[in-house]
Amino acid sequence: MERKVLNTLVFSIVTIFFFSFTSSSSSASFQYQTLVVNTLPSSATLSWPESELFTGESESTTSLSVHLSHVDALSSSLDASPVDLFNLRLRRDSLRVKSITSLAAVSTGRNVTRIPRSAGGFSGAVISGLSQGSGEYFMRLGVGTPATNVYMVLDTGSDVVWLQCSPCKACYNQSDPIFDPKKSKSFVSVPCGSRLCRRLDSSECVSRRIKTCLYQVSYGDGSFTEGDFSTETLTFRGARVNQVALGCGHDNEGLFVGAAGLLGLGRGGLSFPSQTKNRYNGKFSYCLVDRTSSGSSSKPPSTIVFGNDSVPKTAVFTPLLTNLKLDTFYYLQLLGISVGGSRVPGVSESQFKLDATGNGGVIIDSGTSVTRLTQSAYVALRDAFRLGAKRLKRAPSYSLFDTCFDLSGMTTVKVPTVVFHFGGGEVSLPASNYLIPVNTQGRFCFAFAGTMGSLSIIGNIQQQGFRVAYDLVGSRIGFLPRAC
Ligand SMILES: *[C@@H]1O[C@H](CO)[C@@H](O)[C@H](O)[C@H]1NC(C)=O
Ligand SMILES: *[C@@H]1O[C@H](CO)[C@@H](O)[C@H](O)[C@H]1NC(C)=O
Ligand SMILES: *[C@@H]1O[C@H](CO)[C@@H](O)[C@H](O)[C@H]1NC(C)=O
Repeated sequence: MERKVLNTLVFSIVTIFFFSFTSSSSSASFQYQTLVVNTLPSSATLSWPESELFTGESESTTSLSVHLSHVDALSSSLDASPVDLFNLRLRRDSLRVKSITSLAAVSTGRNVTRIPRSAGGFSGAVISGLSQGSGEYFMRLGVGTPATNVYMVLDTGSDVVWLQCSPCKACYNQSDPIFDPKKSKSFVSVPCGSRLCRRLDSSECVSRRIKTCLYQVSYGDGSFTEGDFSTETLTFRGARVNQVALGCGHDNEGLFVGAAGLLGLGRGGLSFPSQTKNRYNGKFSYCLVDRTSSGSSSKPPSTIVFGNDSVPKTAVFTPLLTNLKLDTFYYLQLLGISVGGSRVPGVSESQFKLDATGNGGVIIDSGTSVTRLTQSAYVALRDAFRLGAKRLKRAPSYSLFDTCFDLSGMTTVKVPTVVFHFGGGEVSLPASNYLIPVNTQGRFCFAFAGTMGSLSIIGNIQQQGFRVAYDLVGSRIGFLPRAC
């Protein structure tokens, strides 16, 4: 009897000890995590075996998976140093944020800035395409019949699909021959006044021999693409998609050099996922690996997948919010952010609210690199991070980053955790998604920034390594960690 009590007691003590041990160890790992100190990656080389591309294409497959590359690999600055590439990326990033912010502002109707234009008749600003800040990742696909292979930038911040077409009134240099619609059996001009033509934000009918629908896509910086709105066949690895509405751009000015055009992945009706809703059910996901990796034997490549299977069931989901003034962007409900295991008091839902006039809100974007938060939220987050990381040696600011550390000589370091609290679930970021190298001497910076506007943007540095699922039909976004 006595012995039984004693046994129970010992068991209880062991249990208590065990529990307290595990709970304290899990709370410690909740507050801090390990950052592996790497240096800036050098430029990825572009390796795109054509055999990867069009194997057994089919018109009926209901899923589609394609490799992605980072835009650095396509740029002419292949001999640029890692620091040069990084600085270029930050410059593109600030242009992109400016474009997105100005589009959001235009759509609220408060600050309508008309874009300088070459021809009259269009209204409104459609931010899209290949300005310097057009997007960071691209894919290879075939256009027309027979298919001509080209690179296209992916852009979740715009809808219209377009590419440069001959004859060119103005075309920038691209790495593949310019698409010639006359050589394609599947190219069809969209008639003026058709339903498809009317869906363009800015369309115009021009009198030629036949009336065709003219599209134009402009940027905040005055660059634009314009030409014939048409339908054409696109060919991806294992899949042929017929009758995709796209802009055949004969006049493409002030744009990015390299890719042939752009695949709009926005939430609006003319984007590629919206157009292919019957086949892919309005679902796609991507996984972005290391920023400049185009895939090597040691690392999986970045990929984009379309179709039901692209949305992992085990992802953390958060509902998409709707901006009645602008249907392109993917708005999320961000309730707060934790640093080191506790909610940052100065970061709250009210700083991220999308109001009825289309003002404010938080969007997720593949083409923005550094997450931008409204200034007051950023300052609160940054201060909390500085406090949590006070044991680390500080370093001077760098570019838009005001919280940097000297990690030279270290191989690993403990850093406070950072967690996004979305409506519906939490997303805990790996350390390398918020503390990033900015030079080759061990300087790392906290990769968030403030914005003077009311729109916050979740950028691709913070999305790295996650499978990010866009479900237009289910009106939700999913995040699955370590899923590349
Ligand atoms: C995708 O899922 C939806 C709803 O679950 C279903 O109706 C549809 O048939 C599926 N499509 C394919 C291609 O499996
Ligand atoms: C309105 O547009 C001007 C010019 O682009 C800009 O400087 C200003 O900050 C904008 N104002 C608002 C409230 O967005
Ligand atoms: C475009 O390419 C041509 C031929 O390769 C070259 O001569 C020209 O300088 C390039 N233009 C630009 C703007 O890079």
